[in-house]
Order: sequence, then C-alpha cells, then structure tokens
Amino acid sequence: MRPSLSCLLSISLFFTFFLLGVKSTNNLVTKTCKQMVQSDPQLHYNFCIAALEGPASKNHVKDLQGLGLVAANLIKANASGTLSHVEKLLKQKGLEPFYKGCLLDCQELYSGAIDKVRNTIDAFKSKDYFSANIQGSAAMDDSITCEDGFKEKKGVVSPLTKMNDDIFQLCAIFLSITNMFH
Ligand SMILES: *[C@@H]1O[C@H](CO)[C@@H](O)[C@H](O)[C@H]1NC(C)=O
Repeated sequence: MRPSLSCLLSISLFFTFFLLGVKSTNNLVTKTCKQMVQSDPQLHYNFCIAALEGPASKNHVKDLQGLGLVAANLIKANASGTLSHVEKLLKQKGLEPFYKGCLLDCQELYSGAIDKVRNTIDAFKSKDYFSANIQGSAAMDDSITCEDGFKEKKGVVSPLTKMNDDIFQLCAIFLSITNMFH
C-alpha cells in the first residue's frame, strides 16, 4: 500500500518542526553563551556550550527563563555529585588531619550550597531574579571557599579542583542569565 500524500506531508512537517525546534534551542544557547563570555571573562565559551546544549534541547527550552532553570538544575546536580564525592573521600582510613579538615569543611559548605541552590531555583521560578542572584552568588562562594581551604597548607593538593571549577562556571553562567533580566 502506498502511503497517502497527506500522510507523507504530515511526517515531513513533523520533522521540519522538530528540527526547527532543536535549531532554535541551539541558537538560543549559542547566542546566550556568546553574550555571557563577552561580559564575564572568567567564563569559558566551550564549557558554556557543552554544559547547556544537551539539557536545553532535551527540555525544549525556548527562552532565557527556561535556560536559567537548566543552569540552576545543573548546579544542583553538580553540587550533589560533589557532596557525594566528598563523603566518599571522607570514608578513607588514615586521612591526614589537615586534609580531612578541609574535606569536612567542603562537606558542610556543599550541604549549605545545595540548600541555597534550592532557594535559588524557587526564586528564579517566581521571577525574583534579585534573590536568585544573591543565593546563586552565595553558592558560588561556597565552591571557592572549599577550594581555597586546601591552599592554606603547602604541599596539600585539592582533590576537588575540577568539580569546584565546574560549579564555579555553572554558577557564573546562571548569574549572568539572572543579570540579563535586569
Ligand atoms: C558538573 O557539570 C559539568 C558540566 O555540565 C559536567 O561535565 C560534570 O560531569 C558535572 N559534575 C558532577 C560531579 O556532576
């Protein structure tokens, strides 16, 4: 049996709209990342694209509000992942006391950061970009404080540098987005 013309037509229309949807999400991500990197030299363009593109198209994000939520949820997932990693490291036997102290600080910092990110998400959802920005900045500070702890003693190497950097970047992305609403 030959498929009818209208059937073929609706299939091709479906794919056209599907592809247009993906394309416009990717355009939004590219445009926003470009704009953010220009105003914040600490932000890396490639990181921005790599972090946002997948989840943004998965969630059919169409606007900046949607993209901000994607970024905030990435921070939450990242902070939870980092906290679990810290807790795993803390289970090791015979940890050097200074190093263990740093990990304990990071555990506390990230528990707090996760609460702040939850508040950020609530504020952002209710379009209170000012509070979202304040809570997001506080979460960002927690990642910096965690990383800096390890630097206080010579020869100690942070096992969390990559994770802290990722969270720093994600927070910077999120904060940039909240600033675009001002
Ligand atoms: C944090 O986010 C980055 C970018 O999306 C990702 O590459 C990394 O694997 C995440 N880390 C954790 C611990 O979830």
